[in-house]
Amino acid sequence: NEYDFGTVGLGVMGSNILLNVADHGFSAAGLDLSPEKAAAFQSAAKDGQKVFGTINAEDFAKSLKTPRAIMLLVPAGIPVDSAIKSLLPYLEKGDIVIDGGNSYFPDTNRRFQELKEQGIHFFGMGISGGESGARFGPSMMPGGDKQAYERLRPIFEAIAAKVNGEPCVAYLGNGSAGNYVKMVHNGIEYAIMQLISEVYDLLKRGLGHSDANIQQLFADWNKGELQSFLIQITADILQKEDPESGKLIVNTISDWARSKGTGKWTSQNAMDLQAPIPSIDAAVSMRNMSAHKEERIEAAKLLNGVSTNTENVGDAILSQLKDAYYFAMINIYAQGLAQITIASKEYQYNIHLEEVTKIWRGGCIIRAACLEDFREAYSRTPELVNILLDEKIGRSVESKHQDAAAVVKVALDKHIPVSVLMSSIAYFDSYRSAILPTNLIQAQRDYFGAHQYERTDREGLFHTIWEADKP
Ligand code: 6PG
Repeated sequence: NEYDFGTVGLGVMGSNILLNVADHGFSAAGLDLSPEKAAAFQSAAKDGQKVFGTINAEDFAKSLKTPRAIMLLVPAGIPVDSAIKSLLPYLEKGDIVIDGGNSYFPDTNRRFQELKEQGIHFFGMGISGGESGARFGPSMMPGGDKQAYERLRPIFEAIAAKVNGEPCVAYLGNGSAGNYVKMVHNGIEYAIMQLISEVYDLLKRGLGHSDANIQQLFADWNKGELQSFLIQITADILQKEDPESGKLIVNTISDWARSKGTGKWTSQNAMDLQAPIPSIDAAVSMRNMSAHKEERIEAAKLLNGVSTNTENVGDAILSQLKDAYYFAMINIYAQGLAQITIASKEYQYNIHLEEVTKIWRGGCIIRAACLEDFREAYSRTPELVNILLDEKIGRSVESKHQDAAAVVKVALDKHIPVSVLMSSIAYFDSYRSAILPTNLIQAQRDYFGAHQYERTDREGLFHTIWEADKP
């Protein structure tokens, strides 16, 4: 009983989190099914650091100080339940189990109840930042058992990324709030990645720009208000050569994308909550579209795909593109943050959006300069339901609408699909529209199904006999 903190899972995330914990002066133990991983973890520690890797659940549990602090870093789904099951015989009342993976939030609610009955404190904590984040400072999104979190706060604050000296970890809310916020983080991640790929596609296939030019553009963008981790890695990716062929590696990578579910869950849950997030939906759909490679090859032959005629497109497109990116980016965050706001009410999470935007400023995949603007907006107006309603942010997005529309026109002309950009414009234009054509939909519903409608001039529910005056 001498180690401060343990993880189950010594894969990329588990071993790097533990090494990060050890760097901050805590002793760290890890459990894995693989003896190689347990040994590799132990040998990766620096001299003087106290770490322990094992494949034996009992030894692992015995090694930890009580009440124990154990983080699960295993793939979402059944592996989480199996890990809990293998630990339970060795746990005692008061121990804390943290799920640090991308678990589906209803699973977290279930596990919370199951473990509560056994006297074990359980909380879900989304962790973002990938391998190097885990090693040198991730963003962490805990929710659920607040007392348990408070006990471990010193360790989490020590290992988290820091922005202006403030750690990128904060208790976010009740129940599965932590996993929920991480899920939407990933939905936003999907949409921003798709948006960047649309810019890349329009420049490369649509306008015939060289890879070097496009690389330079992203590197420049990363210096100003568009600065973000995803833009920065895009600039890095676009200059990485394959040592064997001398080609850019990106040009040798297949064009169908895999996914593990978090983006899809964001969209599915948004539908349940009636939270409009069309840009994120479009990003999920485009990953799905990418999977249909054979059909796309066939359709490209039959249906006359991309046109690369670069005539009549002046240099203005480059500054328009920058504004279009900013416009869509803010709209994407607006959708995700609004979804969290709606979910917080529906599930009684009691999430404070200022905290969310504060801990997303560093360490996570969607960290970006604009997060500080969002944090300020929520600090000005904590009950803000949508960041577009913040005058400063709303007006600056509005001022870029025209350029975003100009880019879409070029893309349509070149047959380059820019779904996220288009969805972002449609989101903005419908959000800023006091009147939508849904009156007609209500009339149609009433026509064919007698579903009734409300009127603008009177209270109540109405039905019209639409066909009565037909001959
Ligand atoms: C992060 C990432 C991380 C993981 C994604 C990838 O925040 O560090 O989001 O959690 O890379 O889950 O998701 P897909 O495999 O679905 O693209």
